[in-house]
Amino acid sequence: MDDLAYPRVRDALQELLGLDLRAYKPTQMRRRLASFVARHCEGDPDVFLARLRAEPDFLQDVRDMLTINVTEFFRDPVQWATLEQRVLPALLEGRPRLRAWSAGCSHGQEPISLAIALDRLGRLGGASILATDFDHAAVERTAAGGPYRASEVAGLSEDERERYFARERSLGDGVLYRTRPRVRSRITAQSLNLLADPFEGDFDLVICRNVMIYFETEVKSVLLRRFQGALRPGGVLFIGATEALLGADLEGFERMGGNFYRRAEARGQRAA
Ligand SMILES: C[S@@+](CC[C@H](N)C(=O)[O-])C[C@H]1O[C@@H](n2cnc3c(N)ncnc32)[C@H](O)[C@@H]1O
Repeated sequence: MDDLAYPRVRDALQELLGLDLRAYKPTQMRRRLASFVARHCEGDPDVFLARLRAEPDFLQDVRDMLTINVTEFFRDPVQWATLEQRVLPALLEGRPRLRAWSAGCSHGQEPISLAIALDRLGRLGGASILATDFDHAAVERTAAGGPYRASEVAGLSEDERERYFARERSLGDGVLYRTRPRVRSRITAQSLNLLADPFEGDFDLVICRNVMIYFETEVKSVLLRRFQGALRPGGVLFIGATEALLGADLEGFERMGGNFYRRAEARGQRAA
């Protein structure tokens, strides 16, 4: 998309979707938009802008296209093993329940992985997992517990598939897998724009993985401060493998190793 068209498209998306594209690294966004305009609007940005305003379904398709939903169950297994074996037990010690937030949950694989880990620790009951994303279609699927195609659950063991999912038959897609109610009932899915909407607070654990990589450096720093405010003192932030906190971003956090950062205790409070 050329330099003349891009600002107009960006302003229209801000107005109609409330999404500020300036917060995102531009190269990838421009490439995605250009290929979408080429495919759906014969490469003409004016057609794109007209359809954005006239067709609600088109606007929804654009929203879904702008967000990059790649995800999987237990993405980065070593980090998830650390979460299950070290981080969660420490967070849960002396506490009746866990309050967690999967921020940028995509289609739900991340909050479900957390629910499975908690169940294996015998602590799923009483846990509450907020799962949020900007992409409405992804949020709906998360709320419905899927369903997930066989290829999407292929990374789980047979035992995990049996224990945590019910099989459904579908004509086109073969067997589909939907989370069982005891998993689904612990997860609340909501639409939330991390760049604009208010956050809840008092979380023991915030998982925000492979989302901040798309944001400009200053935007990432602001978001990290906001996540810090959303965590209780001693609460833990779990980030993506390539998103290590450096310099000023580390302020107020303690490095725990791996992809984990603990919110520093307020003076006089005990560690989790
Ligand atoms: C690559 S996926 C990561 C999914 C999951 N966290 C993981 O690591 O597997 C990035 C997700 O961030 C979401 N996202 C992008 N911008 C967002 C925003 N401004 N607010 C909320 N979610 C956003 C996208 O919709 C997408 O589902």
